[in-house]
Amino acid sequence: MNQQRPPQVHLETFGCQMNEYDSELVRSLLTRDGFAFTDDRERADVILMNTCAIRENAHNKVYTHLSDLRALKRQRPLVVGVLGCMAQNLKEELTEKEPLVDVLAGPDSYRHLPGLITKAMESQEQGELRRQMAVDLSEYETYDDVAPDRRDGVNAWIAVMRGCDNFCSFCVVPYTRGRERSREPEGIVAEARLAAAKGFKQVTLLGQNVNSYRHGDWDFARLLVAVADVPGIERVRFTSPHPKDFPAALLEAVVSHPRICKHIHLPVQSGNDRILNLMSRTYSRSAYLGLVDQIRSSCPDIVLTTDVIAGFCSESDEEFSDTYRLLEEVRYHAAFIFKYSERKNTIAARKWPDDIPETVKSERVTALADLQRRISHERNRAYLGTTLSVLVEGDAKRSSLQSKGKSDGNITVVWSKKSVPADPGQMIQLSVYDCSASTLYAAPPA
Ligand code: 5AD
Ligand code: SF4
Repeated sequence: MNQQRPPQVHLETFGCQMNEYDSELVRSLLTRDGFAFTDDRERADVILMNTCAIRENAHNKVYTHLSDLRALKRQRPLVVGVLGCMAQNLKEELTEKEPLVDVLAGPDSYRHLPGLITKAMESQEQGELRRQMAVDLSEYETYDDVAPDRRDGVNAWIAVMRGCDNFCSFCVVPYTRGRERSREPEGIVAEARLAAAKGFKQVTLLGQNVNSYRHGDWDFARLLVAVADVPGIERVRFTSPHPKDFPAALLEAVVSHPRICKHIHLPVQSGNDRILNLMSRTYSRSAYLGLVDQIRSSCPDIVLTTDVIAGFCSESDEEFSDTYRLLEEVRYHAAFIFKYSERKNTIAARKWPDDIPETVKSERVTALADLQRRISHERNRAYLGTTLSVLVEGDAKRSSLQSKGKSDGNITVVWSKKSVPADPGQMIQLSVYDCSASTLYAAPPA
């Protein structure tokens, strides 16, 4: 190892917000141990990929990326590490097929990472290639004492629980992230206070199944309110809840607390009872719709979004139509629509064939996406002429002459910097004059 300068690490993150958060933990753990970080992978001694295994395309992306690294690795000494869900779930496959990978660390093994990387660098210097691997799942690891190294500046993710015990039949998460465990509430509230002290204006509480949070007498509703009461935090969000754990107290907290955002992401997955049952979602279509009614009657302005899977094992045309009709009925503000992809080890993979042809899956996804785009556009049109509180995030994606931020309901708002100069973290009032299905265009209020 070069003693003059700390080893330079380039960390790339794929997948969900939990992975973004875990990357912040990894940065913190490695910095503590004398590693430095670089955005330039050409200068890196170590390239880490924090991976996602939830769907096939996430998985393929990582493989493509890995093969890109092969050329880099031929040019200079380089340690390549795969972290996260793919490391966990595909440990055998990755170790055999990809001699390119030097370090494998699953989501519960990040404390070992400095040691693993150091050993990999040493063994590379000595010309003997030994793969370093830590992929055991833990029942206890919550990284409670690790302060995440946050980059964003506006939103602070805080994981409140890790793992999942639901075992939805399509989902790999219980296998890659292990059993459900909740962090101590005091540590979470302290983390929110620290984030506020550092100037973060928004906290997003994270968990694979965030609302099944439980620690002693604390349930998720109590935790949410305690975080929202932290002075300096202007907005609190949470993701993703499971519809089975939505007690009245949680709804009451969302409805009544001024700093808890009026947005609920409520994954439905399917609108058909037989498929919901096969998916082990533990609710029926009518129970889900009942919850939506209850939410909307206590908070008519709430923004609802969802996740849907099309083409699950044995899903008939008629059963798919139930999902289509559910989207028409609920009229979500937005929906993430996924083609079912079989994941290794899951209950569905073990029990049923992945028997819906690719073309049919694609047609179903397209039909739902087209429908949802129309509905999202109509929903957004309802904001025309209204004034919204917008939390400024930074430059818009398309042009640095524009800024972007989020409404309380989590809808992206874009405006010209010239008309409203504002810094990330500022809360501003904007009036909506135009919209697309995904964006509200705004200007200063008249
Ligand atoms: N195939 C397709 N989509 C999936 N999801 C989870 N597992 C799968 C899978 N095997 C989707 C679900 C979940 C979201 C995070 O990813 O809709 O809510
Ligand atoms: Fe997967 Fe279901 Fe757990 Fe969500 S609740 S992480 S979909 S098993």
